[in-house]
Amino acid sequence: MIDKIQQCEKNVLSFIFDDNKNTVEKFRLDFLSKKGEVSLLFDSFKLLPPVDKKKYGEMLNDLKKLTLDTVTNNHSKNQQQQGYNKKLFPTYQNNPGSLHPIRIVEEKISSIFLSLGFDYAEAIEIEDDHHNFSALNFKEDHPARDMQDTFFIGLNMLRTHTSSVQIRELKKGVLPLRIIMPGRVYRNEDISARSNCFFHQLEGLYVDKKVTFADLKQTLFYFVQQFFGEGTKVRFRASYFPFTEPSAEMDIWAGIDTEENKKLTKGTGWLEILGCGMIHPNVLTACNIDSNVYNGFAFGMGIDRIAMLKYKIHDIRDMFTNDTRLLSQFTGV
Ligand code: PHE
Repeated sequence: MIDKIQQCEKNVLSFIFDDNKNTVEKFRLDFLSKKGEVSLLFDSFKLLPPVDKKKYGEMLNDLKKLTLDTVTNNHSKNQQQQGYNKKLFPTYQNNPGSLHPIRIVEEKISSIFLSLGFDYAEAIEIEDDHHNFSALNFKEDHPARDMQDTFFIGLNMLRTHTSSVQIRELKKGVLPLRIIMPGRVYRNEDISARSNCFFHQLEGLYVDKKVTFADLKQTLFYFVQQFFGEGTKVRFRASYFPFTEPSAEMDIWAGIDTEENKKLTKGTGWLEILGCGMIHPNVLTACNIDSNVYNGFAFGMGIDRIAMLKYKIHDIRDMFTNDTRLLSQFTGV
């Protein structure tokens, strides 16, 4: 077996490619097709006893990699000579790409809520005043509208939060309702290492009869234990949002044991990760739901912040420069 592998490696290395496409094709046929040398070696490998498999497995895999690299390099050399600019398509080279850190974190958060029985919903990013503000109990001229600097597009706007999706889902009138709504949001803010003019949120909504604040706390507590690890401490601070009453912000304990954590938490050890509260009755009424019968809770968290915390990314802008050297480092949570 060892002789055969070495012989095949020699054949691969001594194969002469010229400028035309046919030699690449011939190489493929000689080595990688069903009856090609490499494939036949893999066939005989399958029949080996387990001890030998261990011995030869690695060698065979190296041989396969060498063969694939050889064909890919020569293929792209050919393409270049034919005037094809491979730089435009860097990921076509042997590289299947990887998930964006925002996507990885969003999927992980979603999977926790889906396991609790939440459904999934999405909606449009260009919104009207009704869905982004009015139906969420932001009164005309109320200073709360200034909490979220808005990009306007004529009479419409880029949504400033995923809470607009709450309205779209509530108006469908199917109750009880338990959903998460991830998506991109936009705010006309100064761009810095900590904040960007667009970012990502994941909204949660639970409407039923006799929902309590304890239900909200327990749901979020469960999420934190699953995502950040068992024993992660949380605290709730009273806050204000027009669409929830009472409202709170939830912090997790990140610690002050490292310089980095001190900086991240401004010396307190606590890191704010979401806003939440019991749905304001005016929101239910605006969606034609009887607030004497139904109530519920809502929460909204920033995904970018959590991704930065998880992956120790110091500058939010780094995630959106499309630099594959950075992006290909993130493979899981
Ligand atoms: N929409 C709020 C924000 O963007 C977050 C939030 C969602 C607060 C749901 C309470 C309930 O800051």
